[in-house]
Amino acid sequence: MRFGAALLLACSIPVTVAAQQSDRPALLGVWKADLSKSKIAGPPVTDYLMLVEQKTVVVNRRTGEKGTEFDEATGVKGQRGEQRSVLSFFPTGKPVVRYYQGVPNRITAAFSGNDLSLTAEVAGRPTVMKRSYVISPDGQTLTLTVSQTGTAHDIQNTIVLLKQPDSAAEPLRAPEETAEKHYKNVKTEALKDVPTSQFIDQMRYFAWSLGKDCEFCHVQGKFDVDDKKEKKTAREMIKMTASINAGTFEGRQEVRCFTCHEMHTHPLSRPQFPDEIQNVPTAANASGTPVGSANR
Ligand code: HEC
Ligand code: HEC
Repeated sequence: MRFGAALLLACSIPVTVAAQQSDRPALLGVWKADLSKSKIAGPPVTDYLMLVEQKTVVVNRRTGEKGTEFDEATGVKGQRGEQRSVLSFFPTGKPVVRYYQGVPNRITAAFSGNDLSLTAEVAGRPTVMKRSYVISPDGQTLTLTVSQTGTAHDIQNTIVLLKQPDSAAEPLRAPEETAEKHYKNVKTEALKDVPTSQFIDQMRYFAWSLGKDCEFCHVQGKFDVDDKKEKKTAREMIKMTASINAGTFEGRQEVRCFTCHEMHTHPLSRPQFPDEIQNVPTAANASGTPVGSANR
């Protein structure tokens, strides 16, 4: 079983039952940004396409309880090609944990008339994203405000989107290139066939589960080069994790990077004594003293 796809599936696949249509929210459908009216942080964006769909899913497998899940699929094009993401939420006002851009988020969303507000908190990190969706009275313009705090650079985006016919979503529905084809040096069986955007989500997951940034394994801007020992170790770890799951858990993704790493680089195998706590390389002490195996 493929590591990448399964990682995402593990947390976001309730069983689809049927589309619910009665009181169709104006947010549903295809939207395209009017870039001249939008303000998006970071490198220039050349295209911003969004598709919002809803489906009825079983939210509790034991009781069979059903709920309406919304999936907001976005494709953003820029200098570095296209990056896709899916933001899933239940607009009930109750928090639900879903993977977004590779990392687990606690997502709380609620409609107020046609408008929606959503908060996504990254598990284990101070990152919080707030999104507000305001729809014009004619239902043709959506103003999406996104603010993200708790990262090195806070983000404040305003994206003005215009309603499109359903056919405009074609590019988002077309399959993406696999990581092996798209990138220069992708070698592990687990990641080769993963679509490009989900591959990057996996990278975000690695960084998150070790409590580090991309630079822990990569020299910035030279992602294909194998010049860091951490990147080579990570390849071995990807293979080991896949083999544990295949060998012991019938391919289910029971063991993941976080299971051992818990946001540090050197997993512990026993509790620490209070007076040796400085040896624990936690997120707060991430660059702390490397501990010898006797210490772990
Ligand atoms: C824990 C180590 C680790 C971290 C952290 C990490 N990566 Fe990677 N990255 C890898 C490994 C290992 C590969 C090669 C995978 C393979 O061979 O299947 C890779 C490959 C890549 C590639 C493919 C490059 C090419 O052309 O072959 C890109 C792009 C990339 N990483 C981006 C990122 C970004 C962006 C981040 C931060 C969000 C990141 N990585 C964080 C380990 C890491
Ligand atoms: C079964 C437990 C386990 C799992 C699962 C696991 N690791 Fe590890 N990993 C370890 C241990 C233990 C070490 C420390 C080895 C040492 O200190 O020599 C380690 C070390 C590492 C290192 C080297 C850290 C450094 O400072 O040099 C990297 C990078 C790494 N793991 C990445 C990953 C990634 C990415 C995943 C998920 C694909 C993963 N690990 C899954 C147990 C695990």
